[in-house]
Amino acid sequence: MHMICRQAPVIPVLVIEDLAHAVPLAEALVAGGLPVLEVALRTPVALQAMSLMARVPGATIGAGNVMTAKHAMEALQAGATFATSPGFAHSLIDCCKEHGFPLLPGAATASEIMQLLDRGFDLIKFFPAAATGGVATLKALGAPFPQIHFCPTGGISQSNAHEYLELVNVACVSGSWPAPLELQKAELWGDIRQLAHQARQLNNGHHRSAANDEPHSAKVE
Ligand code: 3PG
Repeated sequence: MHMICRQAPVIPVLVIEDLAHAVPLAEALVAGGLPVLEVALRTPVALQAMSLMARVPGATIGAGNVMTAKHAMEALQAGATFATSPGFAHSLIDCCKEHGFPLLPGAATASEIMQLLDRGFDLIKFFPAAATGGVATLKALGAPFPQIHFCPTGGISQSNAHEYLELVNVACVSGSWPAPLELQKAELWGDIRQLAHQARQLNNGHHRSAANDEPHSAKVE
C-alpha cells in the first residue's frame, strides 16, 4: 500500500453514477497526473466501473467504501488492486490478508490506530480528517505514533491539501475535489484533467523521494 500511496500526492475519491463516464473520467485523471483512483462502492455501477477503469493505461484502481469481506471480494474480482475503508472490521482485514489484497483501513482515534498497529498496519486512512481535528490532530497523533503514516480523507480541498501534505506523517491525501460530480455529469473531462493537474502540483516530494528506502513497501496490508 505504501508504494501505491507514493504514486501521487492525491488519490481522487470517485463517485460514479453513469458507467459511460468511467473510462473518460479515468483517462482525464491519469492524463492530469493522478494515476491512483479510488472508486467508491456507493453506486450501483461502481464494480462495473472499476473493471472498465482497470484497463485504462497507467491507472491504478482501488475500491473505496469497502466495509465487509464480501465487498472486498467483489472489488478484487472486479479488478481493483487495493481497497480502502473509512474504518475497519477484523473480518475485512482477515479477508484482505488471506487474499493478498492491499488494504488501507481507516481510523480516527488513538485506540483505533492501536488496534490497526496490532494487526500490522503502519499506513492508515485518517477519516473523517477535517471533522476530527485535521492537521492539529495529525500533529498530535505523530507524537505517540511516529511509525504511522496517514492518508487523511474528508473535508480536504485544493486550497488546504498542502497543509496536510507538509506533515511528516502524511503519505498522501484523498478527496473528491478533483472529480466533482457536476463536472462528470457535464462530461467536462478537460476541466477534470485540469483539476487533476493542479492537485498533482501539490508537494509531498519528501515522502515520495524516500520510496527506495521504504522498509515496509513489500508488506501486504
Ligand atoms: C467521501 O466520503 O466521499 C470521501 O471521504 C471524500 O470526502 P470529501 O468529499 O470531503 O473529499
